[in-house]
Amino acid sequence: MAKTPQAETPLSDALVLFGATGDLSRRMLLPSLYFLDADGLLPVGFKILATARGQYSRDDFVEQVRDILKARPEPVDDAVWKRFSGRLDYVACDATSAEGVAELKPHLEGRQSPMFFLAISPSLYAKVCGALSGSGLATDDTRIVLEKPIGRDLESSRQVNEAVGSVFAEERIFRIDHYLGKETVQNLIALRFANTLFEPLWNNLTIDHVQITVAETEGVGDRWPYYDEYGALRDMLQNHMLQLLCFVAMEPPADMDPRSVRNEKVKVLRSLRRFTRADAQNASVRGQYTKGVVGGKEAPGYETERGQPTSTETFVALRADIDNWRWAGVPFFLRTGKRLPERRTQIVIQFKPVPHSIFGDGAKHDLVANRLVIDLQPDEDIALTLMNKSPGISHGGMRLQSMPLSLSLLRAYEGPGSRRRIAYERLLLDVMHGDNTLFVRRDEVEEAWRWVDGVADAWAEAGMAPKPYAAGSWGPSGAFALIERSDRAWVD
Ligand code: BG6
Repeated sequence: MAKTPQAETPLSDALVLFGATGDLSRRMLLPSLYFLDADGLLPVGFKILATARGQYSRDDFVEQVRDILKARPEPVDDAVWKRFSGRLDYVACDATSAEGVAELKPHLEGRQSPMFFLAISPSLYAKVCGALSGSGLATDDTRIVLEKPIGRDLESSRQVNEAVGSVFAEERIFRIDHYLGKETVQNLIALRFANTLFEPLWNNLTIDHVQITVAETEGVGDRWPYYDEYGALRDMLQNHMLQLLCFVAMEPPADMDPRSVRNEKVKVLRSLRRFTRADAQNASVRGQYTKGVVGGKEAPGYETERGQPTSTETFVALRADIDNWRWAGVPFFLRTGKRLPERRTQIVIQFKPVPHSIFGDGAKHDLVANRLVIDLQPDEDIALTLMNKSPGISHGGMRLQSMPLSLSLLRAYEGPGSRRRIAYERLLLDVMHGDNTLFVRRDEVEEAWRWVDGVADAWAEAGMAPKPYAAGSWGPSGAFALIERSDRAWVD
């Protein structure tokens, strides 16, 4: 993405990774850092100070990191590994007390602008920030990186933001939504604002509706202690899906400055129509998977995984309306769920049909309205379906067919040495540079919670329990009725 360097922000010279032996560090962060090093993107002398409660020696930890990298499909390059392992250090500490965090100090000697990455339970954010402040490690040049969830509702998110904000200034807080590190999400900005083609059409005159689907085949499994408190609405829709919606719906920002981009996103969130009790029943669906078959394998129901009955939803579909000039009358249909038949993250921009068909009866039924399909996962692709003449001749005049004009982003990964990046690579690099364009600002998180709280309240008022759906299906039948009510259908 084109960068607007933060003039007064120095390049970070160290990363302090809290929760370094946890799942996120192992699966995403440590490999991302290795790949950044392999691509020559880590600053010279950049240090990675890993910390957790576990008592390991530095050598033990380095060995663990090597095993993590070896278990990945990409080969580990000896020269890169030598350089990368030289950056690694490990100190066990209790990060919730100033005395504990002070143990890190001797290992950060001479470092001016470390970034602190909290890959730990969000319930500890306030304490760790307090400890960073108490130990004197948090200075005007340091930055803090937080993972979602930031709270469970508006009120609790405010408390977290207050606590973190009392130690770090807003421009030094990097709230991660890893979807913003995905190539295609950034591509959405390029597509909209680096082409003249789409922007004049990007409104309620030409667009009929928008669909955003985030479907997962995985179940909740042993993550239920976290998930059961959140459910699909708070785990996926409040953050990832509303971020996608913002990128589709926002006005062109004046430039790529973090302030400009995030101001536009906040305006979209503020324009979301508040849910009422009637909307809960007519414009939303909650679901929970029961046992079924996904990808040919039997899968247990959520309550079996959870070990007891629960009213947490694992599926949500809803219609969101944006009350502004551009989008008045254009519904955004959002759906996400676990244990669905396939993994798919997709945005569909459905254009309106041609106002009048000049084609004869034969072609009448061939005519399909244009559609821009943006696939984020499992493969990245952007395709615009256009009507074409079917090749050849036949009785009864011209026949038409819908054909995709595809950017085939998949091919971009086929060259020698090219690979699909982990979303965190982009994000870590941006924190290093102090660029928070792709991070979520406090007012954004809070506006998103305000709207999501409205949905949760409407569900509670309407007494809406989740409807069961068999694992491996596309959610409760109500999800189809939801979109069909306005004579539209999910694109499958
Ligand atoms: C996380 C959610 O934020 O995103 C998970 O907590 C979800 O429940 C995951 O599975 C999906 O991320 P991705 O990148 O695999 O689509």
